[in-house]
Amino acid sequence: MKRITKLILSLIMLIFLTSCQTNQSKVYVFIYDMNDPFITALSDHITRIGENYYPMQTHDAKNSQIIQNEEIERVLELNPRLLIINPVDRLGAYPIINKAKSMDIPIIFINREPLEVDLDLYDHAFYVGAKAEQSGILQAEIVSDLFGNQPTNLNKYDLNDDGIIQTLIFKGEQGHQDAELRTEFIISTLTDDNFQVEILKTNVSNWNQDIAYKDALELLPQYENQFELIISNNDAMAIGVIRAMIELSMFVDTNSDGYIDKENEPWYPVIGIDGIDEAVEWIQTGHLYATVLNDASNQAYATIALARVILEGIDPETVDIDIVDEHYVWVDYKKYSLVS
Ligand code: GAL
Repeated sequence: MKRITKLILSLIMLIFLTSCQTNQSKVYVFIYDMNDPFITALSDHITRIGENYYPMQTHDAKNSQIIQNEEIERVLELNPRLLIINPVDRLGAYPIINKAKSMDIPIIFINREPLEVDLDLYDHAFYVGAKAEQSGILQAEIVSDLFGNQPTNLNKYDLNDDGIIQTLIFKGEQGHQDAELRTEFIISTLTDDNFQVEILKTNVSNWNQDIAYKDALELLPQYENQFELIISNNDAMAIGVIRAMIELSMFVDTNSDGYIDKENEPWYPVIGIDGIDEAVEWIQTGHLYATVLNDASNQAYATIALARVILEGIDPETVDIDIVDEHYVWVDYKKYSLVS
């Protein structure tokens, strides 16, 4: 009997130790909201690439910082090797960095950039992402090409021929670095290049397709015959606007060939950012004029490469990443369209 109890106890101990070890060898990924299509793509790439090196476990905070904090607290108790965090609120990074620092656990933030002062608190806190300004600049180049590259002599897409580009902007979440900087840089780049731009309205639709759809259904009729361009901070909102425009007969496939021909069918230019699969389909049908590729697969590659540098002491050069200012790895945006 005694022997059996001893055996059971050792078995329990073994299971406990093995599970501790597995948890410690895991890389944990915390995602702000799996309902966001760009983020789902990014998270899938991280898991796919990461699994080549580490057991991976992903947590979805469902857009709640409270849930995310609880999940992180729970995982920290398991003494994990490394955390990859897409914060719900980038200002929420501060307490997480302090806690991880006190436990000597490295963190890589992705997509939502913590404040520089916060990252500077801990030499094992990093950010992998894309420079938001760059996406605004690339969107401006697309607009410039579309209107003929001559700021003082706009082409036929200046519908009212007043020499000014009238636009509606669909903005992502207020305070998010991407929403703020994309909105700022598309306009400042165009005006620095001597284009005149009139923003009829900047509407915050929180990165979300359904919100943008509902907002656009209300907004577009108010500005009908005034706007000449829709700028969206991301593809999901651009698609929401396109769905509303189809309903409002602002896109009409008159010859029913499955393609909106901008030369002879009702059409307006809509420009997004991200390059999600659904956006590519809308480009192929002629509804979405262009997008800027927010390179999820390269961001995921860089995130895992950085994890390996931190955990295995690999030289960053051998995995092709560049750590800038001790905390940052930047991945470039690229223009994506069928036109240029
Ligand atoms: C941006 C992306 C948006 C949204 C947001 C979430 O980089 O363009 O579509 O996913 O991140 O933080």
